[in-house]
Amino acid sequence: MQTITTVAELRGALANVRDKRVGFVPTMGYLHDGHLALVEASRAQCDVTVVSIFVNPTQFGPTEDLSTYPRDFLRDEKLCRDAGVAIVFAPEEREIYPAQFETFVEPGELAKSLCGAFRPGHFRGVATVVCKLFNMVRPDIAFFGQKDFQQCAVVRRMALDLNLPIEIVTVPTVREPDRLAMSSRNRYLNKEERRRALSISRGLLAAEAEFRVGERNCEKLIAIARQHLDEVDRLQYLELVDADTLEPASGPLSHPAALCAAAYVGSTRLIDNVILKP
Ligand code: PAF
Repeated sequence: MQTITTVAELRGALANVRDKRVGFVPTMGYLHDGHLALVEASRAQCDVTVVSIFVNPTQFGPTEDLSTYPRDFLRDEKLCRDAGVAIVFAPEEREIYPAQFETFVEPGELAKSLCGAFRPGHFRGVATVVCKLFNMVRPDIAFFGQKDFQQCAVVRRMALDLNLPIEIVTVPTVREPDRLAMSSRNRYLNKEERRRALSISRGLLAAEAEFRVGERNCEKLIAIARQHLDEVDRLQYLELVDADTLEPASGPLSHPAALCAAAYVGSTRLIDNVILKP
């Protein structure tokens, strides 16, 4: 495995494998089994897997956790090596955002609801860095986790709108044994918060279970999930949205939808979702 920090070196290393299928897993590091499932999916479908590790400042709001975002590069590197990654791309901030940087990718309607409503500029930062990383790596396929459902929708739209010849694959959310969705931010939770955080997945999975046995009424499905969510400190949103347009779903469900939640437990913001396919 090669660890590379500059775009020039990355291009040089990838020049030798342009006849191969390149898979790309963009991350902000502090890797967990959710990331490793993306690597596994990439290795199953591609000849060469590139993982980027870059905590992207432009996707954090001024009051968010950029400075405290968990980092452990040596551990990440080892996990990548053990998982069969070919290249880890870990640039410094200046390599991605040179002085006087001023060109951004501005996503549209898909970025305005759900997390976008509470994190202004977040998806602009995500779309910009993902577009730049795509241009650097030029992968055939890029892999994203379903936990960041809206991110997947925004990135897929961006790839279509900007004619990027890259297939976007969404990999199902990996959960802890007690069903908490894996996230690098879970490490912020103390024991008591960790227990209460479980109410998010409990609510979503309860609604999914009712959906599986035939419940199709959108309002009822939301109500089932909401019953469990009283243990969080602040629910930002709990919404059932069309899986393609992210517009609110109502009445009887006839098209794939995502039941999405974001909530604070203590000072940690967590997101999760389940996909309901009628
Ligand atoms: O999902 C993430 O970790 C980040 O949003 C991403 C896609 C690596 C862009 O910084």
